[in-house]
Amino acid sequence: MSEFQHACLLGDLVRDRPMRVVLDGLAIAVVRTDEGVFAVSDRCSHADVSLSEGEVEDCTIECWLHGSAFDLRTGVPRSLPAIVPVATYPVRVQGEGESAVVEIDPTPVSGRTEESA
Ligand code: FES
Repeated sequence: MSEFQHACLLGDLVRDRPMRVVLDGLAIAVVRTDEGVFAVSDRCSHADVSLSEGEVEDCTIECWLHGSAFDLRTGVPRSLPAIVPVATYPVRVQGEGESAVVEIDPTPVSGRTEESA
């Protein structure tokens, strides 16, 4: 059964700079962009390196090792060498403290971003 878990405060997210969080033992890269807040697996699908150490541009996160850029909305790689998508997780921003919460599910699906008051 899935559930939303607090990942971080929105104010702690620097635009276009990934933040690594660990929820239920899963390493997740949380990213705030002009298009919303996204959460993707913090593990490149090409090799076991951290995506949160990469750069964000045009709603993608680029792996620092070989340069594959993964779409933050879908997890799909837009460039080689990676060919397998990374997991994405739904994100909501809620509460007066503007907590970014991430839905952890055993079978994550392509992400969506929701913001609510
Ligand atoms: S390890 Fe990420 S693209 Fe190769």
